[in-house]
Amino acid sequence: MRILVTGGCGFIGSNFIRHLLANHPADEVVNLDLLTYAGNPANLADVQADYAGRYRLIRGDICDAELVAPLVAEAEAVAHFAAESHVDRSISDAGAFVRTNVLGTQTLLQAALAAWGGDASRRFLYVSTDEVYGALALDDPRRFREDWPLDPKSPYSASKAGGDLLARAYHHTHGLPVLVSRCSNNYGPYQFPEKLIPLMILNALAGRELPVYGDGLYVRDWLHVEDHCRAADLILRAGRPGEVYNIGGGNERSNLDLLHALLELVAQRTGRDIGQLRGLIRHVKDRPGHDRRYAIDAGKLGAELGWSPRVGLDQGLAATVAWYLEHGDWCQAVTSGAYRDYYRRMYDGR
Ligand code: NAD
Ligand code: TYD
Repeated sequence: MRILVTGGCGFIGSNFIRHLLANHPADEVVNLDLLTYAGNPANLADVQADYAGRYRLIRGDICDAELVAPLVAEAEAVAHFAAESHVDRSISDAGAFVRTNVLGTQTLLQAALAAWGGDASRRFLYVSTDEVYGALALDDPRRFREDWPLDPKSPYSASKAGGDLLARAYHHTHGLPVLVSRCSNNYGPYQFPEKLIPLMILNALAGRELPVYGDGLYVRDWLHVEDHCRAADLILRAGRPGEVYNIGGGNERSNLDLLHALLELVAQRTGRDIGQLRGLIRHVKDRPGHDRRYAIDAGKLGAELGWSPRVGLDQGLAATVAWYLEHGDWCQAVTSGAYRDYYRRMYDGR
């Protein structure tokens, strides 16, 4: 397949492109990415070298209808990952979230409609999130299923729900072959160190404080990014258009439990004193409107497409701590933004 991946220089998108090229020797990938603070071509430096003939990066904005139209028309499938993705940033400034996550998604859908019509051989995967379902109480025995009403609580999840609703509306109204996946919290290599797991690993290594929001008893369902990539690939190729598929790891942990597990791993790998590492934990002001718990029922994806997660949480966290320890240069590069201007000029699509 010729696949247009949006946001392929971000955390999940870069892992997804590596997965596609390694597992589908006939696939060709065009990566459309604006290279915001979260998009780093350094995430794909190996891909650029190993798959030069099958991979191309274009720097551009998914909201740019003129740029997007020919890229979508040439593609047999679109895997739409591009987004503003961090809840805390959406609380301080929601504008970019509405623009990229809602308007950008609609721009891509419109381009697909114009180029493909109802051609059922094409595929448009909208990568949504479990956060569109809202929050569960800690003692609620239920997990989110695909028919759960959308009840997003943060500006981030509201903007993702906007894209999710539009994607399904384009299927319902126009017959566009849209698939929607709703995934729980991912972790693994190349995650920008503003999210909980890489932030805590890097702060612990640097001896900085470990900021736990509120009581730290918020629960997330953690999924290794490789398991997400396998699921997204499967849904893109074999999912039924118009359907929604939940993706989840079945690993519900409180933030504090997760942090303690990470600190044990850092202590084991570096020989640092576990007591000193724990002493870095600080309970700080809570995130406004903080969702208490997410929990995913991924039974439909298992029953229909035979997917189940392969990476256990202990194993995945150990590999992730090891990866961040071994990739100090990458951490330095992405947090300093050193390469970004150079790459922005080099790959500008206009
Ligand atoms: P990320 O922030 O690491 O990467 C986002 C990428 O999108 C970056 O490369 C950025 O440059 C690009 N981008 C942003 N605005 C753009 C625009 N206007 N035009 C083109 N490119 C643009 O995000 P991520 O964590 O990799 O998440 C990828 C997708 O998966 C998002 O849609 C997110 O909502 C969804 N998701 C993420 C998680 C998670 O745990 N990270 C869980 C469920 C769903
Ligand atoms: P995050 O990685 O931002 O993902 P999301 O908000 O999309 O679930 O946060 C995961 C959890 O960790 C969430 O409950 C907020 C909490 N958190 C902290 O306690 N401290 C931090 O510094 C960060 C970034 C998050």
